[in-house]
Amino acid sequence: MKSEQVIDKLDRYGFKNYGRYPIALEKGKGCWVWDFEGNKYLDFTTGIAVTNLGHNHPNIKKAFVEQLEKIVHCSNLFYTKEQGSLAELLVENSFADRVFFCNSGAEANEAAIKLARKWGKANGRRFKIISCKGGFHGRSYGSLSITGHKKYRADFSPMLPGVKFVKYGDLEHLQNFAEDKKVCAVILEPIQGENGVIFPPKGYLKKVRKLCTDSNILLILDEIQVGIGRTGSLFAYEQLGFEPDLMTLAKALGGGLACGALLAKDKYAKHLTPGSHGSTMGGNPLAMKVGYSVIETIIENGLLDNVKTVGTYFISELEKLQSKYSKIIKEVRGQGFIIGVEFVNSDCASEVVKKLYQNGVLTIITEQKNIRILPPLITTKKEVDFALKIFESSLHEVLDA
Ligand SMILES: Cc1ncc(COP(=O)(O)O)c(C=O)c1O
Repeated sequence: MKSEQVIDKLDRYGFKNYGRYPIALEKGKGCWVWDFEGNKYLDFTTGIAVTNLGHNHPNIKKAFVEQLEKIVHCSNLFYTKEQGSLAELLVENSFADRVFFCNSGAEANEAAIKLARKWGKANGRRFKIISCKGGFHGRSYGSLSITGHKKYRADFSPMLPGVKFVKYGDLEHLQNFAEDKKVCAVILEPIQGENGVIFPPKGYLKKVRKLCTDSNILLILDEIQVGIGRTGSLFAYEQLGFEPDLMTLAKALGGGLACGALLAKDKYAKHLTPGSHGSTMGGNPLAMKVGYSVIETIIENGLLDNVKTVGTYFISELEKLQSKYSKIIKEVRGQGFIIGVEFVNSDCASEVVKKLYQNGVLTIITEQKNIRILPPLITTKKEVDFALKIFESSLHEVLDA
């Protein structure tokens, strides 16, 4: 089969709701993927922060095959060893006491909203949720209602009532809303990924934590994109000097299988009583077994150190390119393996992304004139050097056009 045929068929039979690159992928290994003509690409999209161990990782393959031969699904009518083991591993490596499993980031945030409201009902009938402008939390109604970009919500109103948006990084703005005794939770991303890898001012998140504690408001961190090692620690909050009350995970947790999770302290988790929330497929043994191997591999193979070292090198080299090509690159922002390169305008960013994939490096075009670079955690300095070389030649091509 040829790439063109693959593209034509999906364009003919699939919904037209995605803006896809004109590339059809057949297979992947490590940091690399191949199309149907055998063209090789360095995959610095990781399927939007999902394939953190790269493609075809032997540990994931082993876990997958082993579990496939045992049991794939049985629902939460029953206990499985795999769900207990992954929950234990997540609890032992985080602030949380308990884990609820679902299938996606949107579902994890739905669970967080429901838990916050149920807790709020029992604590002064609080129900309002504060979220941040520019934040992204998913496409289902609850998660969309707390997503801070109007463009995602515009055609689907009315949204969930009781949601207020504040400026990301503006503590005073948040403080005004937090005085409202009907607020049950604040939800935000430690770094806004979809918004273009936007960092809040230093110290802001810690102050949000204090404000939430002082005002009896739950702090929910959405680590769906930045969790599972991407910033150089298993969870981004570990580098911030505080703990959230609830945390949502998905994407890389399942190593490519559908998997999401809500983590919470026991005193909050207990509010989701039997029958109050659930998922048929959530926590299925296949996703759990693979999820366990993802976390175990990240910890045992020293991948967090790799993210820190190679990520720091990558960011500093991109900063050099920024100084050299300041005519078109405005800024480079990043932590570990979540990197945003901001261009002077969105046309320029799109042109560079196009040249990059034509030259064999896959990256993501994102909000605010940014290219988002999300390498797998296994990426070596050699692979980064290859990407940098292609990056520079692609910049030349755009400038010369
Ligand atoms: C921070 C964040 N939260 C939630 C989501 C939604 O996740 P999903 O697409 O798995 O529903 C995303 C997806 O990009 C995300 O980046």
